[in-house]
Amino acid sequence: MRLTVIGGGGFRVPLVYGALLRDHAAGRVTHVTLHDVDPARLTAVARVLADQAAGMPDAPEVRTTTDLDDALRGADFVFSAIRVGGLAGRAADERVALAEGVLGQETVGAGGIAYGLRTVPVAVDIAERVARIAPDAWVINFTNPAGLVTEAMAAQLGSRVIGICDSPVGLGRRVARTLGTDPDRARFDYVGLNHLGWLRGLYAGVADGEDGAERNLLPALFEDEALLTSFEEGKLFGAEWLRTIRSVPNEYLHYYYFNRETVASYRQAEQTRGAFLHDQQARFYDRMAHSATPAWQAWDSTRAEREATYMAENRETAGAGERAADDLESGGYEKVALALMRAIARGEETTLILNVPNRGTLGVLDATAVIEVPCRVDANGPRPLPVTQLAGHEAGLVTAVKAVERCVLEAAESGSARAAVQAFALHPLVDSVNVARRLLDGYRGVHPGLDYLRMR
Ligand code: G6P
Ligand code: MN
Repeated sequence: MRLTVIGGGGFRVPLVYGALLRDHAAGRVTHVTLHDVDPARLTAVARVLADQAAGMPDAPEVRTTTDLDDALRGADFVFSAIRVGGLAGRAADERVALAEGVLGQETVGAGGIAYGLRTVPVAVDIAERVARIAPDAWVINFTNPAGLVTEAMAAQLGSRVIGICDSPVGLGRRVARTLGTDPDRARFDYVGLNHLGWLRGLYAGVADGEDGAERNLLPALFEDEALLTSFEEGKLFGAEWLRTIRSVPNEYLHYYYFNRETVASYRQAEQTRGAFLHDQQARFYDRMAHSATPAWQAWDSTRAEREATYMAENRETAGAGERAADDLESGGYEKVALALMRAIARGEETTLILNVPNRGTLGVLDATAVIEVPCRVDANGPRPLPVTQLAGHEAGLVTAVKAVERCVLEAAESGSARAAVQAFALHPLVDSVNVARRLLDGYRGVHPGLDYLRMR
């Protein structure tokens, strides 16, 4: 099996390679091609992978290239994990938004729109090339904003592109463990868009393929104050709010439900998340330019720091304290991606929460809208499982944000600046059309990647 990673010089590639190294079964990935536009980053990451593979005779072979078509030729699976504009772009997304008093997170609000506007054209180009050069390949999209980017690529690739995120898995694992049940044997009634979903039920007692009566354990959680405040989402949102909405929201909903507080704390922070990561990652790649730097140690200590500081401002606002030891593991994405590949390539059927076209799952969205939903996956790919329909307030946010995503897709396809303004203006976290206009002007001023937008 041949895997190509686009964005192969990216910091999280060793996580993926680590998962591949732990897979020894027949039909496993034997060849990994890393593609990146930056050869220095490729060299740095390849050095970390070489450290990981040391002493492992069946380690997948790794090659690097800066030629995308070359990278795609012969691929069975393609992971797309790019960052258009780099972390400097992410920091600029945050800065421009915060200057207008709105949120600039890379996937939520104005920042997510700006990032989407410059990423979608590049993702569509990748999708077109895959369709031409590796038409039988399955594309697994890690690129944020993951739901929107997956939907953009699906226009070319149909059901052969699948988006993944680790936040629903992490949420499910935390809630299951809090309730004393095995996450691998539980069924999660989770649905929404990427970074905009809710867990409305957690059913234990039925593992994959087993029969038996299901029991929803979630109501018991809402009755127990101590349990409710013992895990990440409970600490972020507070017991009382979870009890009120009777669901456990994805952690990214903290930006919606506590928008005023998160914006304030991001404005006060010494550095935004993007600026912090920009500096942190620059230090890592600089160090890796010296052959004396121990690659694995340098990478792993950088990873640990990144994990420890994840959503720090949100946790501070909520008084949530440090992250739990289990949550610092990192290890969501690569596990989901590997399980997905195994199900498709080797028929090891499984259930995973994925970003796929709605196909009638949620009544409030059309069939092609990409949603995040538990799917049964087999050799034919993922199929969304039935879920409880959204409550009114959930449907409101989901349909509003999907409408915003559609404006971004339209802007990217037609080059319409008007559609881009509409995307900003319709977002629930942008409070004025005037702000939306200034946001687009601000973003155009800092991102050459938005030059394609024209007022017409
Ligand atoms: C979570 C999110 C991802 C995000 C990652 C890293 O796993 O689901 O979408 O890429 O965190 O966030 P960071 O702020 O460290 O880049
Ligand atoms: Mn994510």
